[in-house]
Parts: sequence; structure tokens; C-alpha cells
Amino acid sequence: MFRHTPHPSSVTAQNARHVSVLLNEVLDALAPRPGGRYLDGTLGLAGHSSALMERAGGKAFLCGLDRDPQALERAAERLAPYGENCRLFALEYASFADALDALGWDSVDGALLDIGVSSLQLDVTERGFSLHGDAPLDMRMDMGSLSSAGREPWTQSARTVVNMADVHTLRHIIEAYGEDPQAPRIARAIVEARQKAPIETTGQLAEIVWHAYPAKWRAEARNHPATRTFQAIRMVVNDELGQLERFLDAILPRLSVGGRLAVITFHSLEDRIVKQRFRQWSTDCLCPPHLPRCVCGHHAEVTLLTKKPIVPGRDELVINPRAGSAKLRVVEKLPPFEKELS
Ligand SMILES: C[S@@+](CC[C@H](N)C(=O)[O-])C[C@H]1O[C@@H](n2cnc3c(N)ncnc32)[C@H](O)[C@@H]1O
Repeated sequence: MFRHTPHPSSVTAQNARHVSVLLNEVLDALAPRPGGRYLDGTLGLAGHSSALMERAGGKAFLCGLDRDPQALERAAERLAPYGENCRLFALEYASFADALDALGWDSVDGALLDIGVSSLQLDVTERGFSLHGDAPLDMRMDMGSLSSAGREPWTQSARTVVNMADVHTLRHIIEAYGEDPQAPRIARAIVEARQKAPIETTGQLAEIVWHAYPAKWRAEARNHPATRTFQAIRMVVNDELGQLERFLDAILPRLSVGGRLAVITFHSLEDRIVKQRFRQWSTDCLCPPHLPRCVCGHHAEVTLLTKKPIVPGRDELVINPRAGSAKLRVVEKLPPFEKELS
């Protein structure tokens, strides 16, 4: 029975551990060097960043961001040996340019996004990300510490999504971001339940989804039936796709020539966004194929270093099953295109 799965309730913000995904592959991709400047937009517990600093003999410069104040605190402890070489900011990565401007950096030699939740967020019950245990429905990565100006009121936390979104919106969210075929039943069950009393906790939500699932599906499901619903709500609360789009809109001009961008995704929609953007950036002409000659004048700005995404090997998955859906894609910035003089 999924509902009785014991939860590692002894995990706290102080002792949570996070195993960095595709660590060697990221280091090979970014090839950090002494004196180089690097941006880590999703610092987490600084697993990738501390390895990057170590690979550069402690002599690289790092700009590290995280929207989660608990993660940032842990990252600061881990990066303390590198002193002023590592500058950390409580910031959403879509706003990375603010951090680079504050440091006076025009560009970086490498940038990393390792998108998603950290074990710190998943394993600490009180954060409200986990469907095991029972905690207030929250799921805000920033724990409310960053401004939510401009956000719709119903997207402020998991509690507001579950209690305020109409049935069509809930269904869309669970279908699109959770890719759950039972989305219509789940959305209806949530709305019926909240008509009796507001849904306040992760345990209540997990229970509602559990009962919404047909018994046959429940019996055959590999994970708790609420897993995808929780993921979908988390993505909305943290505007995860919007963050990625805005980061990609802005990063190329801030990458030095020869600099590399590495992105690890855990969700098919995120991977599709990265794949399409990298393909567009690395293609010379974007005209429709039926046109006899190029009229768009577009020139590739990057070289695609990963024609296919890099995924974790079997050895890594044995140690870290959470890496199961990870995909790494990498590009390298080209020099600006110069028109040939005729
Ligand atoms: C998978 S963890 C990163 C783990 C890290 N690479 C390591 O090796 O320890 C993802 C981290 O990114 C942060 N994060 C996710 N989306 C973010 C965003 N839009 N802006 C800033 N930080 C974000 C989360 O708070 C979390 O700490």
C-alpha cells in the first residue's frame, strides 16, 4: 500500500544530502579552468559547483544562484573554502543578469542549470513537496522569501492552486505538467473535496488523488498515484517552464565566445524547450524548407555539442535512482558571424 510508505522523517534542512546528477559529464562539458568565470543558476547544495571549483584548482570564479534560502545557506558552507571567488545570490535564475551586473561581469565562460528539486526540498517533509508524511501544502522553492509580484494569486503556493484553480485549470495542469491520464478524475475529486473543507495538507491531497484513481490503475501503478499531480502543482507554483524560457532568452549574449552552456532537465516539457532552443541557435538558416533561398539571414550562434542528450549510465542509477529522467544538453558559443566582403 503506497499510503503507508514510511518516510525518512529524520531528514532536516541541516542533514539532507543531494547526490549531484551527471557530475563528471557536467565537468567535462564545462571544462572549468583557473581564472574562468562560471554561473551556476541552480546551486542547490553546491555539489556541481564545489566539484567545478576543485577541478579549476580553486582558482575559478563562481556566481551561484538559488531561490531557496535553505539551499543557499548549505551551499555557502560548502563553498566557504573558496572565499571571495564564490559569490552567491538568493535569486531566480531567470534574473541571472542582475547578479552578473552586480559583479560587473559582462560574460561567463560556462553556465549550468540543473533544473528541478533538490533532495533537501523533497526529503524535508515540512517543505510540502513530498506526498509521504503530512505537511502544509506549500511547495514554494523560495519559501516566500522572494517577491511574488506579478504572479497570479492562485499560483502563490500549492494550497492556493489546489483550493482556487477551477476544475478545467486543474485538469489542464495535471494533464500537461503531470502527464497523468487520470487528470479529469483527479481534478473533479479535488474540487468535490474542497467544497466540504479547504485542502490544507500534502496528506489530504495524496489521499484525494489515491481515491480518484481507478482501483485497477492503483494496483498497477509503480509510484504513488499522486506523484504526477504533486509534480504538476510544483511546476506551476514555481513557474518552472517560465523561468527556463526567460533564462534561455537572455543567456547567449552573456556567454563568452567558446563558453559553454549545460542544462540538465528532468521533465519532457523542459527537455523539449532546451532541445528546440539549442537547435534554433545552432542552425544557420531558419527559413521554411520550401523556400529556394535563404531570406531570414539567420546564422548559427552556437555549436551543438550533444546531438543526443547525455543520460545517466547504469552505475549512476544504482547509486542515485532519482537521476532516472535526467537529460544533459550542451552548446558552445561561436564567434560572431562576419559577412564576407564581395
Ligand atoms: C536539482 S537541485 C541542484 C543541485 C545542485 N546542482 C547540486 O549538485 O547540489 C536544483 C536547485 O535549483 C533551485 N532552483 C530551481 N529552480 C530555480 C530557479 N528558477 N531559480 C533559482 N533556483 C532554482 C532549487 O531550489 C534547488 O535548490
